[in-house]
Amino acid sequence: MSGVVVCKFDDLAPNSSSAFVVNGKRVAIIRIGDDVYAVSDTCSHADLSLSEGEVWAEDKTIECWRHGSRFDLLTGEPITLPATVPIPVFVASVVDGNVVVDVELDGAAKS
Ligand code: FES
Repeated sequence: MSGVVVCKFDDLAPNSSSAFVVNGKRVAIIRIGDDVYAVSDTCSHADLSLSEGEVWAEDKTIECWRHGSRFDLLTGEPITLPATVPIPVFVASVVDGNVVVDVELDGAAKS
C-alpha cells in the first residue's frame, strides 16, 4: 500500500473523528477502539465537514452535524436521509503506531 502517514494513532481520541488533508483531499479519520477508518470529510448532501459530527461506535457510522445523515464507515453508504449519495471510503491502517491512509484506494472494496 502506498499510503501516507497522517498522524500517530495515540493522538486520536477513542470514538472520535479528526480532519486531515491527504494528497489534497479532505479526509476524516475515525478511531473506534483499536481500529481506524478513513472517509471523505465532505458530506454528500452539502459541502460540510463530517469530522465535526458524532461518531457512533456500535454501528460504525458517522453522523453529519447539519441534517443528521449517518454514513457507514465501511461502505460510505448513507443509512439515513437526507443524504442519498455515498461518500468515498479510503484504506486506513495502523503501522508502527502511525495512521496510514491511501486516498487512491477505495476502502469500500475491501469490506
Ligand atoms: S449537510 Fe450533511 S446531511 Fe445535510
